Amino acid sequence: MIPLTLAKITEATAGTLHHVAHANVLVTGPLSFDSRHIAPGGLFACLTGRTLDGHDFAKQAVRDGGVAVLATRPTPAPTLVVADVLDAMGRIARAIATHYTGTVIALTGSAGKTSTKDILESVLTLDGPTIANERSFNNEIGFPVTVSRVMPDSRYLVLEMGARGKGHIEKLCDLVRPSIATVLGVGSAHIGEFGSTQAIADAKAEIVRALPQHGVAVLNGDDPLVAAMAQQTQARVITFGTTADCDVQALDITVEQGRPAFTLRHGTSEARVTLRVHGRHNTINALAAAATAIAAGVPFPRIVASLQDAGLSSGGRMEILERPDGVTIINDAFNASPESVIAALIALSDIAGTERRKIAVLGEMAELGPETEAWHEKIATEVLASDIALTIGIGGEHATRLTAAIVEGGGKATKTDRNPALPQHINTLLKPGDVVLIKGANALGLEQTARELASLQTDETRSDLEGTVVQEGT
Ligand SMILES: Nc1ncnc2c1ncn2[C@@H]1O[C@H](COP(=O)(O)OP(=O)(O)OP(=O)(O)O)[C@@H](O)[C@H]1O
Ligand SMILES: [Mg+2]
Repeated sequence: MIPLTLAKITEATAGTLHHVAHANVLVTGPLSFDSRHIAPGGLFACLTGRTLDGHDFAKQAVRDGGVAVLATRPTPAPTLVVADVLDAMGRIARAIATHYTGTVIALTGSAGKTSTKDILESVLTLDGPTIANERSFNNEIGFPVTVSRVMPDSRYLVLEMGARGKGHIEKLCDLVRPSIATVLGVGSAHIGEFGSTQAIADAKAEIVRALPQHGVAVLNGDDPLVAAMAQQTQARVITFGTTADCDVQALDITVEQGRPAFTLRHGTSEARVTLRVHGRHNTINALAAAATAIAAGVPFPRIVASLQDAGLSSGGRMEILERPDGVTIINDAFNASPESVIAALIALSDIAGTERRKIAVLGEMAELGPETEAWHEKIATEVLASDIALTIGIGGEHATRLTAAIVEGGGKATKTDRNPALPQHINTLLKPGDVVLIKGANALGLEQTARELASLQTDETRSDLEGTVVQEGT
């Protein structure tokens, strides 16, 4: 963290100090909210959850290295008492950002924020010390924690910004004032909360409206709703995409066993890039990362070199798990929106090729509002067009709808709920050489299913799908 005195933090949060001997003591470590991971020299935020109250861990937090705790009432430990801990965390983030002299980069979009953030972090790290949010930490807790991790010598601070409603991104931008903002695409994720795609676009546009005149808006030129955001910013605009009028372009895209390759062009610079990451949808994410790095002034050859090695460190996104029996598991189970399910089905086909059998384990999708049923039927159509040997639907009524539509269309599908024996159940349906996609809403926890399935072996006696698959209805 950029060191600030407790006195300065008290002023920023309009709080009061209790049991603190010296207000000029420096806070040198980041904010933390998990008593098992107290940052030395940092502040422990006493948040109140459904079962635990952070205030009960105040003493332990300071014993384990914290300077003080942030709380809504005095505790036995040195305490900064504030009216609202979450609000105070935001104010601390703002105070830190005020002292930060590096480049703040914000990125948003309906799908691919974390994937792009991971790729961008790899690219920028080659250019200078970079702090980015861990995994998908982009909510009102994760965001200030990430900002508090920034160091005085951090050249870049990369922040994924999620939105579940109007004004969310504006609020985050107000805390940290990014000078570069990247918008990936506008899709259907969280459409249930927003009501329409246009409403999602309006909420995402807050990120470019917040840019200063000397800033750069990095926009997806392939997505008309994103390209139109150029009208809403006073900053310079750089576009990325697959068409020639984009400033940063991917040409001659090919896919080899699921891994995309393309020619990256910016002005007169061109180079062939083969990604380490799987899924042709990651082409646009890599392109977004490249365009953002260009906006930040990273030299073209350095971007090309780092793109090839960049991985998706956050896990659960296009994670390829190979079993000794030749079964390949695609763990894309971190979350599922219609666009990302379709992208994952394409990746399944690309990875399996024509020789290997394809199995799709599809958890039902959440947060889609009144169109939920229609989206599940759309996914069934995509499954039927993808020559998938078997779909295993996981969840409740939407999974039932999905599998019923697949069976009605002449495909094979079965449905089950999330249960502890799920990995074993899926395993009984596999044979060596199969490629299995695991995908579903985050709440279903299918990432764990994917990992457990990866540790199993094929049961040779039970690998024939014929006769085992029926639509089970409810
Ligand atoms: N450009 C894309 N188009 C479609 N699907 C994508 C794209 N990029 C990533 N995905 C898929 O979408 C899912 C979520 O990816 P990721 O975590 O990168 O997105 P996110 O925007 O950070 O999501 P969240 O809103 O949950 O934080 C993953 O399954 C990933 O493989
Ligand atoms: Mg994310």
